[in-house]
Formats: sequence, C-alpha cells, structure tokens
Amino acid sequence: MQLAQFTLPNNLFLAPMAGVTDRPFRQLCKQLGAGHAVSEMAASNPQLWKTDKSTRRLNHHGETKPVAVQIAGADPEMMAHAAAYNIERGAQIIDINMGCPAKKVCAVAAGSALLQNEALVEKILRAVHTVCTERGVPLTLKYRTGWSPEHRNAITIAQMAESIGVSLLTLHGRTRACGYTGDAEYDTIRAVKQSVRIPVIANGDITSPEKARFVLDHTGADGLMIGRAAQGNPWIFREVLHYLRTGAHLPPPTLEEAHTVMLHHLQDHHHFYGEKTGLLTARKHLQWYLCGPAGKNHPVIDQLMVAPTTEAQVRIVDEFFMSWRNTGALYFAPSDSDLSNEPTHTRLAA
Ligand SMILES: Cc1cc2nc3c(=O)[nH]c(=O)nc-3n(C[C@H](O)[C@H](O)[C@H](O)COP(=O)(O)O)c2cc1C
Repeated sequence: MQLAQFTLPNNLFLAPMAGVTDRPFRQLCKQLGAGHAVSEMAASNPQLWKTDKSTRRLNHHGETKPVAVQIAGADPEMMAHAAAYNIERGAQIIDINMGCPAKKVCAVAAGSALLQNEALVEKILRAVHTVCTERGVPLTLKYRTGWSPEHRNAITIAQMAESIGVSLLTLHGRTRACGYTGDAEYDTIRAVKQSVRIPVIANGDITSPEKARFVLDHTGADGLMIGRAAQGNPWIFREVLHYLRTGAHLPPPTLEEAHTVMLHHLQDHHHFYGEKTGLLTARKHLQWYLCGPAGKNHPVIDQLMVAPTTEAQVRIVDEFFMSWRNTGALYFAPSDSDLSNEPTHTRLAA
C-alpha cells in the first residue's frame, strides 16, 4: 500500500505500544509480515529527550524503512519542535498520537483528551504539518472515535486532518471514555472511511485472521493495525496476511522456528537495553510467548521471572525448547490473545 511517497509491503500495521514495540520488537514484526510499524510515543517535552528511555526510543538503527516516529503533546509549538527534532534523527514519517486515554497524558490534555478541543487539534495538526512539509516528511494521525460515546467527533477530526494535509489516519474503535472496556466498534471507522479520501487504517481488537477479514470488509478500511494480539505472537502478521490473500490458514510456527525466533528476539532485546534493564524488560515478552503454548502455570515461567542474568534467561529458554522438541511435539501454537490485559507496566497506553 501507498503511504505518501512510501510504498509499504502490505497494509498490516503493528500498533505503537509504549513499553512493548521497541526497536527489536518492531523489527521482528516487520520480518514476520508487518507492512509498517510506528514507534512508541516520544514526548514532545524537550526536557525528556535526554533520558535513557527517550534515547532508546530515538534509536532506529537497522530498522526497516520507512521509520515512523510517534509524538504526543498538547502544545502546538512544542509538537512542531518535537517533529523537527525527530526528523533530524531519522524519522521519515511523523505520527501524532491523539488516542491516548492514560491519565498521565490526559492530565496535560494530550492524547485522546485533545479530541475534546477541536480548535487545539487544528492548531497542533497545522503546526506539525508545516514542519513536516518543509522537510518532505508525511504526517499521520492516530486517534480514537471521540471523547465519549455521546461525543464521537471522529469524522470532524478526519475531515480537518485531510484538509490540513495529513496523509493517513489510524482509528481505534473506542472513545477516550471507553478506555479498553467493551468491544471496539467499527461503524464509526466505516463512516470515517466514507468521509475522506486519504487512507484509513482500522484498529482495535483484531485478534485473528477471521476478525481481520471481518473488520476490513465491514469498514472498507485501507489497512489494519494490530496491537495486543501481537504480544507474544509476532507471527500473527504473516498469518493474517496469508488468510487475507488466500482465505486459508497457515500452520502455526514449528517449535524449531519458535525457538530460533524467541532466542533472536531475546538476544536483540538484551543487547538493546543492556544487562540490567534488559533482564527486567524481557520478562513480559517471555511470559507472553510462553503462557499460551506452555501453559501459564508451567514452571519455566517462574524460572524465567527469577533468572538472575540475561544469560540465564537465554539458557532457560534454550533448555526448555530442547526438552520440548525431544517430546516429538512439532508446533508452537501461540495463545488466544488475552485482550483483557489493560497495560499495567506503562501508563502511556492509548
Ligand atoms: C501497553 C500498551 C501501550 C500502548 N502505547 C501506545 C502508544 O504509545 N501510542 C499509541 O498511539 N497507542 C498506544 N497504545 C494503543 C495501541 O496502539 C492500540 O491502539 C490499542 O491497543 C488497540 O489495538 P489492539 O486492540 O490491537 O491492541 C498502547 C496499547 C497498549 C496495550
């Protein structure tokens, strides 16, 4: 699919998830079929740019292009400055996050809180778009269907964004007030798709190839964005892609492939974060990978949670797969996605 001047390999996007979709995970998902991935949110406040977290989020080394960086904030000038700063550091696409219901972000009226203030939305979009256009960088917008179920202004925002020059919209089928409760609804996404000419990507609760087919057909969207269902299951992208193209299911990854993919991911993760942080931040990925296929009470999970070093984490994963493969089992069937897990490790979830 086409995103401004960029031809993406396909129309399946990995959702930005703070604390999850770091460079190693984005790159893995791209290798396994995601056509595009947006980085975790970068703060628009310059005081935060020198922290370890921000430095890591600005690290796109070796990432398959185009590199898309998400920014969030409520001050048009600061947002424009943040866009310029990220473009100077390699961003080829700037994405604005207006989808975040988290208190930390809404308290400063950024994220989805902005949707309540359409005049401010317009100022932010104009300011960031000007900076992006001067540098030949497309601007995309990720947002929710509105402030609350009674105040769904997704169409107004979409038409405003299109008229300002935004190149693509991603819409999460929930309002800010919904948080993560209830099911995502796709009627508003369909209405938005019908109201603009720029590409619209549908997001929310896409957990299987069948659901992907349904959402694509129902909304008429140009593409899909998958978030939580990719946690511990980066293979979902190739599975959905295959199903959308052929109507048939791919077999799950073999144990051999899962072993290799997990080890590479783990090592890349450790290398990216370093020993101390990497040991801790790898745990959630390991849990997501193994809870379904191995069973959430499997002793390997506890062992991994208390492993004292990154080397020990790698060894435990290695030994676990060796003994599993020795049983003659062939496939690694990732768990059904558990979308009840509202993010706990970060308060920046959108
Ligand atoms: C842990 C977590 C962190 C998230 N962080 C961000 C973020 O930084 N920026 C953003 O636009 N959305 C963020 N989101 C929202 C997702 O991008 C996505 O819109 C949402 O999870 C719905 O998609 P899903 O049902 O496929 O997970 C986050 C979600 C989760 C679960």
